Amino acid sequence: MPMLEVKDLEVYYGMIQAIKGISFQVDEGDVIALIGANGAGKTTILHTITGLIPAKAGTITFEGTDITHMPGHKLVPMGIAHVPEGRRVFAQLSVLENLKMGAYTRKDKQEIEDTIKMIYGRFPRLEERKNQLAGTLSGGEQQMLAMGRALMSHPRLIVMDEPSMGLSPIYVNEIFDIIKKISSEGTTVLLVEQNAKKALAIANKAYVLETGRIVLQGNAKDLMNDDSVKKAYLSE
Ligand SMILES: Nc1ncnc2c1ncn2[C@@H]1O[C@H](COP(=O)(O)OP(=O)(O)O)[C@@H](O)[C@H]1O
Ligand SMILES: [Mg+2]
Repeated sequence: MPMLEVKDLEVYYGMIQAIKGISFQVDEGDVIALIGANGAGKTTILHTITGLIPAKAGTITFEGTDITHMPGHKLVPMGIAHVPEGRRVFAQLSVLENLKMGAYTRKDKQEIEDTIKMIYGRFPRLEERKNQLAGTLSGGEQQMLAMGRALMSHPRLIVMDEPSMGLSPIYVNEIFDIIKKISSEGTTVLLVEQNAKKALAIANKAYVLETGRIVLQGNAKDLMNDDSVKKAYLSE
């Protein structure tokens, strides 16, 4: 049984169909990359999975449970965490307060403390800045905070929306290294990216999205060497 299965998904904004019948699956341990140009429908798919936008047709199943119409707050305790596009940290709260917001489904104080320690181990810069307001962090640091906040709920599946967007090359590399580490420590990753080169380098499988349809899919390594992918997504 796949961990996450999206089947024949269709999503509309009013009369406009943004997702035109998409199917894909994520198995436990996968790093799946969903790549495609701006406007292809990547965010719409993630928002439909995480319960922010309703599906018009199709099904989404997580570990055997139909979550197609389940609201987001019920998905977090089930093991799905979302790192949204544009980070969306709480600018007026401190780094530590932002992390605590990610633990809202947990009650055990000691466990929350332990998780914060684990996250500081992964992101030493967050510990250095724990009392700083999140709005004053750099883009890369805000991305780390958004990831740390998502990890506070101990997700089994983490979905990330363009974590590298707008970051300097040094931060981009660091963020992708962190994603690799998150995966190697046992969290399954569904990664949406415009940076196809970097995404394919860390993914095991990938899907290429064009205007609401999957036009190509396969092993990330094969797609990296595919001429049409090279031409459309990997040329500098
Ligand atoms: N809130 C919205 N209302 C109407 N159309 C939208 C809305 N959000 C996205 N769209 C449209 O849906 C399509 C897919 O958008 P999106 O999922 O944001 O793409 P991506 O994340 O791949 O850049 C685009 O054509 C976009 O203009
Ligand atoms: Mg998007």
